[in-house]
Amino acid sequence: MNFLSLIEAKREGKILAQEQIRHFVREFTAGKIPDYQMAAMLMAIYFRGLNPAETTALTLAMRDSGDVLKFPKDARPLVDKHSTGGIGDKVSLPLAPLLACLGFRVPMISGRSLGITGGTLDKLDSIPGFQTLLPAEKIVAQVQKIGCVICGQTDRMVPADKKIYALRDASGTVPSIPLITASILSKKLAEGLDALVLDVKFGCAAFMQTKSDARKLAQAMVALGKECGVNTRAILTDMNSPLGRAAGNWLEVKESVACLESRSSRREEDQTKSESSQSLLTSAATGPDLRALVLDCAAHLLVQTKKSKSLSAARRLAEDCLNSGAPRKKWDEMLVAQGADLAAFNKKLAKDFTAPAVIELKPEMSGFVTKCDARLIGEVIRDLGGGRLTKESAVNYDVGIDQIAKPGERVEKSGTLCRIHAADSARAKAADARLRAAFAISAKPPAATPLVAEILQ
Ligand code: URA
Repeated sequence: MNFLSLIEAKREGKILAQEQIRHFVREFTAGKIPDYQMAAMLMAIYFRGLNPAETTALTLAMRDSGDVLKFPKDARPLVDKHSTGGIGDKVSLPLAPLLACLGFRVPMISGRSLGITGGTLDKLDSIPGFQTLLPAEKIVAQVQKIGCVICGQTDRMVPADKKIYALRDASGTVPSIPLITASILSKKLAEGLDALVLDVKFGCAAFMQTKSDARKLAQAMVALGKECGVNTRAILTDMNSPLGRAAGNWLEVKESVACLESRSSRREEDQTKSESSQSLLTSAATGPDLRALVLDCAAHLLVQTKKSKSLSAARRLAEDCLNSGAPRKKWDEMLVAQGADLAAFNKKLAKDFTAPAVIELKPEMSGFVTKCDARLIGEVIRDLGGGRLTKESAVNYDVGIDQIAKPGERVEKSGTLCRIHAADSARAKAADARLRAAFAISAKPPAATPLVAEILQ
């Protein structure tokens, strides 16, 4: 194959044949195409795009560049969720054990943080002893045995994406819908799924800042997922404010456990006083938006796999399951299966905080929170050491913010907008100064914005 002629063809806006795409992905993965030529091809794709058939060919060629998980036949459907990423987005953590308890198998292959968006694997790395790098056989065995796993991609899974993504990162070709679609779906298809729900974020801290760009990406991924035989749905969700009440690796694990322990359902609010006082306690530790999104993702998968007839029936089923406490026990089971030291984890969980310096950000007036800027919050947490500026950056798992007051909530002057967890008090004070601009308070509550703006199926 003359790869130069393929670059030139794409540069001129021509359509590449399926076999040509398969061939160059194979050759590039094998190290037979130099990075500079592949970078030129990526730039040609960035400007000229790929049609649906070309995007499918690229996705399948990338999926087939390495190992694909093979599961034995089982009545439990294989499902997963993918989020395009945001601040405080820890949905995967409570969702995986919830789905396992709802009768699914969940081979959740996740990634690390880069820039301001958090990574599920970094959050899990804050759990003492927890292993995120598992061989394919262990992933399959654990899913078969306990129903869920959350781990990283093995070296042998989708190696083409690893190489191409690194080159996109270095060549300014990340924001291309066909390249993003192929990158995300090649990894999800390698899990051998029956159904997939995609949480495509829009807003100031999202990869796709406008709802219309998020919709375009979601439509492309839903169409391709379906074409590849996976029942795929997407929800468009707001990422102008952080999700939940905590952002930062360990703080998000803590909030995920609080979510698994929460009982704040509408029906329970009508119940006894003692129960409702417990529900107040839990809702201070976990955001109602987090719980709602976890339940929504589970509900969509229940409908997609025909385990429920309607979204409302599915939500009730998911809510009852979460309220039963079984997913909280499943979480511990998953931790133990992946090598965590449960006693050390519980000891850490019992601490209010683990960072050396913790201060409260105080509001300048009483009133309603009208803004809680997720992008600025993400940048501050990254600069506290909670995220990565480069792939090689070391991560501080204990820093971040929690007890976040969310848009629409009332705060008193004597109350708290959030707590800042830092490596030392100088850094905590510097974060305090920057975070003031992230919040706005007004005498009137803002108009409510729905968390899920659209569903695409
Ligand atoms: N996440 C991925 O895995 N790939 C992309 O291209 C973008 C986000």
